[in-house]
Amino acid sequence: MRKLTYFVACSIDGFIGDPGGDASSMFAFLDEEFLGYLTSTYPETIAAHAREPLGIEAAGNLRFDTVIQGRASYQLALDAGVTSPYAHLREYVASRSLAESPDPHVEIIAENLVERVRELKAEDGGLGIWLCGGSQVAGELLDEIDELVVKTYPQVYGSGMPMFGSGFAVADFTLESVRTFGNGVLVRTYARRR
Ligand SMILES: NC(=O)c1ccc[n+]([C@@H]2O[C@H](COP(=O)([O-])OP(=O)(O)OC[C@H]3O[C@@H](n4cnc5c(N)ncnc54)[C@H](OP(=O)(O)O)[C@@H]3O)[C@@H](O)[C@H]2O)c1
Repeated sequence: MRKLTYFVACSIDGFIGDPGGDASSMFAFLDEEFLGYLTSTYPETIAAHAREPLGIEAAGNLRFDTVIQGRASYQLALDAGVTSPYAHLREYVASRSLAESPDPHVEIIAENLVERVRELKAEDGGLGIWLCGGSQVAGELLDEIDELVVKTYPQVYGSGMPMFGSGFAVADFTLESVRTFGNGVLVRTYARRR
């Protein structure tokens, strides 16, 4: 059984971006210490176009070999002219509107999203599955999430795009680790309590 991990960046008050999803204010915290942590611990979460400038183009995948994104999150890459933003991973994009995949490396999940994710989790071997977001897809897949890795930036948004676009329901998690950084970023890892 492979784990589905929602590895996500958010503000102190739990927003993954402004009301439109923009989280660029968080980029200011990508300093040497925190980037060093990301590139050495989660290199596969660095988008393909940024790997060479960061000197990690040859880095192997450590935690994940698969990524799942909602189409709105993937759209950011498409708008930048990138059709396979995580070419070093198996890429899945949930979308009912993309009639065909813009890239042979990207598989579109148009229906039965939860069932498809269960099939991926049930595959033997391999590394974990990274749920990249955004909010809507994370809300739909909340029941399937086995692990949360929450990068919390020391900013309050007041309102914005919530971590989960879902209705009210309590889901319990166990805190497994907390890592703090000099610039005030926190990375908390939680395991799902079933
Ligand atoms: N802070 C972070 O770490 C982080 C991480 C990721 C994303 N984000 C932000 O999140 C924002 C996007 O989040 P979002 O909630 O608006 O959208 P999203 O979850 O990325 O994508 C929503 C889209 O996914 C497709 N979809 C949803 N459920 C589906 C289902 N059951 N079956 C098939 N397709 C399905 C639909 O695409 P179609 O319309 O094509 O049908 C829907 O419009 C972006 O602005 C991004 O910057 C932040």
